[in-house]
Formats: sequence, structure tokens, C-alpha cells
Amino acid sequence: MTYICTILINHLSLLMKQIFSYLLMLLVFALACSSPNNNDPSGRVIRTGVPERPAGQKDVLGLTAPKIDTVRVGFIGLGMRGPGAVKRFTHIPGTRIVALCDLYAEKVEKTQAILEKAGLPRAEAYSGSEEAWKELVRRDDIDLVYIASDWEKHAEMMIYAMEQGKHVACEVPSAMTLEEIWAIINTAEKTQKHAMQLENCVYDFFELTTLNMAQQGLFGEVLHAEGAYIHNLKEIWERYEGDWRMQYNRKYRGDIYATHGMGPAAQVMDLHRGDKMSTLVAMDTKPVNIPEYLIEERGMNPDSAYQFANGQHTMTMIRTGKGKTIQIQHDVASPRPYSRMYQVSGTKGFANKYPNPGYALEAEMLDGSITPDHENLTSHSYVSAEVRDALMAKYKHRIHRELEEKAKEVGGHGGMDFIMDYRLVYCLRNGLPLDMDVYDLAEWCSLAELSRISIENGSAPVEVPDFTRGNWNKIEGFRHAFAD
Ligand SMILES: NC(=O)c1ccc[n+]([C@@H]2O[C@H](COP(=O)([O-])OP(=O)(O)OC[C@H]3O[C@@H](n4cnc5c(N)ncnc54)[C@H](O)[C@@H]3O)[C@@H](O)[C@H]2O)c1
Repeated sequence: MTYICTILINHLSLLMKQIFSYLLMLLVFALACSSPNNNDPSGRVIRTGVPERPAGQKDVLGLTAPKIDTVRVGFIGLGMRGPGAVKRFTHIPGTRIVALCDLYAEKVEKTQAILEKAGLPRAEAYSGSEEAWKELVRRDDIDLVYIASDWEKHAEMMIYAMEQGKHVACEVPSAMTLEEIWAIINTAEKTQKHAMQLENCVYDFFELTTLNMAQQGLFGEVLHAEGAYIHNLKEIWERYEGDWRMQYNRKYRGDIYATHGMGPAAQVMDLHRGDKMSTLVAMDTKPVNIPEYLIEERGMNPDSAYQFANGQHTMTMIRTGKGKTIQIQHDVASPRPYSRMYQVSGTKGFANKYPNPGYALEAEMLDGSITPDHENLTSHSYVSAEVRDALMAKYKHRIHRELEEKAKEVGGHGGMDFIMDYRLVYCLRNGLPLDMDVYDLAEWCSLAELSRISIENGSAPVEVPDFTRGNWNKIEGFRHAFAD
């Protein structure tokens, strides 16, 4: 009897132990799934969370502001990039260059010469301290603050400008972390000011023409797009003020310069205008060429040189809510020809920019006005150069029809920089929504931190936050605004 009791007690205690361990596992699983910071690299999605929209704040989708007859501008950051912008503004009607700022007085002075050459009055000058830009921003005779300084203070400058009642445009990337991104969004929503990222590549000739073709349905349903920033910066590293770009690459893993690739891909995919990014995964190679450069060109000791975070080649794959994909690459170190990839792949056709621009289309997508032998077309190969040129002429975007000649004359990456600035001023002068809103800025810049999180967690999928906080489907399709 005692023996039977002992066996029963043993069985019961084993059963209890098993039930207890099952319950514990269930509890751990439930906790893992409910945690907003589920940094579990085992395959489940990592979430960074979406902060609640502060009370009384509303979104800035389709934001318009009162028309500005003469757009008065203050520029911050006059290194390699800034003075070109000042020069372009001397060619844009309805603008006044009010103030210029850089850390260094000689850079401001050099830029004043651009105004002088254009027959314009000198601008008010600010320099000499890390905070001098704040005085420029506080002026009451400026409508737009235009930022072309290094990445470190972009977010701080944008936020301060909006808080001081100004619209703001900022070079790429305008924000480096999710915290900065949410702070910019919150300020834009609170102040109802425009916050535009100065992404020029969306205005390049092949990209904008292809966007127009896509919007006219020439590629059928667009399912996949690619973009990249592949540019060997070896010849340029030493020219950045204070070595900021090298230092940033040294410190941070992930695609820290994704916007040139993301911009055109996002527009053709109607991101937050009918579709949204849902998750991404990223991978990178080890860094080799830049550490070697640091050893050879700067005499750095190898241990230190190889403490370099940014991978030589970084790839990010994004899935959208509507079952589409985007692939973005970053490589500023390999000896490769410059490329932003730019590919658009649809159910009826394909576009590819690098190394040679080309289109491939199903025969049914072309008619006799483009090529008499359209029935012999096959998407197995690119259309001929003549057909491509005819297509590009037929589908030239209205913006290019109106601005191409002037843009090529003024220049700036072949004209796209001028078109970007011109469009910004045109929309402000006409009280129209800008071509790129603060949520574009957020989505394109978010790759820096999200891809890093994925890589640091064994390429785990990471959720892309809905920066519109539920309104990604409010606008139907990406379109440029026109006064008429
Ligand atoms: N869209 C494009 O095609 C393109 C091309 C080149 C650069 N960029 C972007 O433009 C920005 C500037 O790059 P760059 O190549 O001109 O770098 P840069 O180092 O040549 O210039 C940055 C300038 O900002 C100034 N600066 C830094 N901190 C400042 C502060 N607190 N107040 C005032 N001035 C300050 C520096 O003195 C320097 O003159 C970066 O965001 C870069 O990514 C974009």
C-alpha cells in the first residue's frame, strides 16, 4: 500500500512539474509577443513601437500653407553642398536670399561672392559658433530655412526652425535615428509647418519619366523596386569638414544613406499613399576597403582601423503591406562605378537605369505611335534605343516639360537639383502640398536605424513603424501638385 502511494505521489508531482513548466513557457511566450521591444532574433518580428500622437495634434498629410509671394530664405551649412543651393536659388524667381550661415566666416564670404556675381545684395552673415544658426532661424524676415550642414544637427535644426514659425528643407538624410524622426514628425504636426527632405534623385530624368510611365499603367502593377547608393567616396573622404562622414560610418552599422535609393522607389510604390512598408531585413558584408584606407592613408593602427561598424556593402529588403518588395543597397567603399540601381518591375514591364537606361515591355503595352513593329516586341529583351527614346519623349513628365531646359542650364547633378529647389519654391508660392512630406522623410530615413537593428539581431525582420499613425491610406496614390 505504501509502495502504491509513493508511486502515485511521484507521478502526481511529475505531472505538476510538467504542468508548471508548460505554464511558464506559455507565460514567457505571451510576454515576448506582447512586448513592444521584442528584440528576439529567433525569427519573430522586432518592433520599435509607435508613440501615441500627442493630444490636439493632427497629421500633415497633404499639408498646405498660405501662399508666399516671395520666398525669403536663410541657408545653414556652406560646405561642398550648400553654396550650389545658394547659386540655384539665384535663378529661381520669387525668392530672396536673406541670410547665410556656416561655422566658418570664410565659407560665408565665399558664398556672398555667388550673390554678388548674380547682381544680388549681400546676405546677412552668421558664423563663428556651433549655435550661430539659431540667430539666423530667429529672424522674422525668413519664410524658409534651408539646411546643408552635416548629419549631426539636421534634426535639431529642423525642429528649431519649425518652432520659430519657419518652413524647413533639409539635406539628406534629414534624420539619423527613430527618436529624431518622431521628434521631427511631432513638431511638424504641432506647428503645421512644412518639413521637406531635399531628396534630389526623385527628379532625375529617367526616374521621373519612369514614374510617369508607371502612373499611366505601362508596367502593369508594380511589384518590386530597387534603389541604391553605390559611390566610392575614396577621393572625397578628406574633404568633409571635421571628418564627420568617416566618423559616422565608423560608428554606425546599417544603411545610413538610404534616401537616394528609397526616394524614387517609394514614389513609384505609393508609400503612405495606398501602401506602406511593413517589415524589413538587412545584411551587410564585413568592412575591408575603408579600414585599409585608414591604415594606408591616415597611418591608423590596424586594431583601431578595423573597429569600423559600417559594412562595406549593406542590403535591405523591405516588404510592403500589399505584398510588394523593395531592395536598397549602400556601398561607399568598393571600387565600383557609381550606381543608384533604380529598377522598377511590374506585371507588364520593367525599367532599369544603370548602367544603361532601358525598358522591357509586354507587346500589348506599346502601340504603333511608338514603334510600327510593336507586335514583335518581347519582354525577354530591352526595347531598342530608338523605342526607349520615343517612350521617354512620349511620357516626359510635365515637370520636365516645363523645367528641363532651364534645369540643364543651371545644373546641379545634371539639373535635378535645380528642379528640386524650383518645385519647393513653386509649391510654397502657390500654397500647394510639397512633393515630399515629413512622412516621406521619416520612411526614407528610418532605414538607418531599422536596418542596423535587423543586422545586429542576425538579420531578423524588423517592423517598419507606420509614421502616419494610421493614415497611410488617406491619400490615393503619389502625385505632384500643380497650381492649375
Ligand atoms: N543630395 C545630394 O546629392 C547631396 C550631395 C552631397 C551632400 N549631400 C548632403 O549635404 C549635406 C552637407 O554635405 P557636404 O558634402 O556639403 O559636407 P561638408 O562637410 O562639405 O559641409 C558641411 C558644412 O556644414 C557646416 N556646419 C557644420 N556644423 C554647422 C553648424 N552648427 N552651423 C553652421 N554650419 C555648420 C560646416 O562648416 C561645413 O561647411 C549632408 O547632409 C550630405 O549628406 C547631399
